Amino acid sequence: MNKGIVAILFIFLLQSQGDQKVQKAIDLARKVSDNVVDSVKATLFKELGKGGYLNAISACSNLAQDIIKAHQSKYGIYVRRVSEKYRNKLDKPDDYELVILRKLDELNKTGDLPQEYYEVVNEKDGRYLRYFKPLIVQPMCLNCHGTDEFLNKSIKDFLKEKYPEDKAVGYKAGDFRGAVSVKIKLSD
Ligand code: HEC
Repeated sequence: MNKGIVAILFIFLLQSQGDQKVQKAIDLARKVSDNVVDSVKATLFKELGKGGYLNAISACSNLAQDIIKAHQSKYGIYVRRVSEKYRNKLDKPDDYELVILRKLDELNKTGDLPQEYYEVVNEKDGRYLRYFKPLIVQPMCLNCHGTDEFLNKSIKDFLKEKYPEDKAVGYKAGDFRGAVSVKIKLSD
């Protein structure tokens, strides 16, 4: 084989290995973000069944971050729930996440929101997949994230006490609420 062809084949091989790595990272990001959504939802519905919205908000408040942490340690990757209008300060987006969240919000407004969004980005310490699973406000979410008339007094009191700087109210069904954000290192 002539050297030129060997070089081209080598580049193809490298490229396809790189693509495989990206694809694997996307698959993992999908799996982990779906798991986070399912686990939080399961907890929410279980606690609702046990004792209504006040019981559920108190349980979610205690358990949401534990669920996230359990996923971080199980998979050994960066995974969080993020929102521009966050309730828990731990869910405050980083600068990159904020740009993407705003973009997804705009896409939702025009009815063009994708099921998932991802990019490969270069950061100071390497190349990363950054993956987002958008979260949309459903009618039932309004009991804890809606406008004033949707919030019971007991929920309002709970929020005032536990999250005095809460930003996560005033939503309407169909609004973009935030995303599960995943970040996976691809190479140094
Ligand atoms: C029973 C009350 C309750 C309901 C119903 C509820 N949430 Fe929440 N939500 C909370 C609480 C409490 C937090 C803060 C949890 C924490 O401290 O980590 C929260 C946090 C979040 C966050 C993380 C970002 C942030 O603001 O800190 C997202 C995203 C979110 N909720 C989306 C939803 C969606 C979508 C629905 C409907 C499917 C929903 N929630 C229904 C109580 C609720």
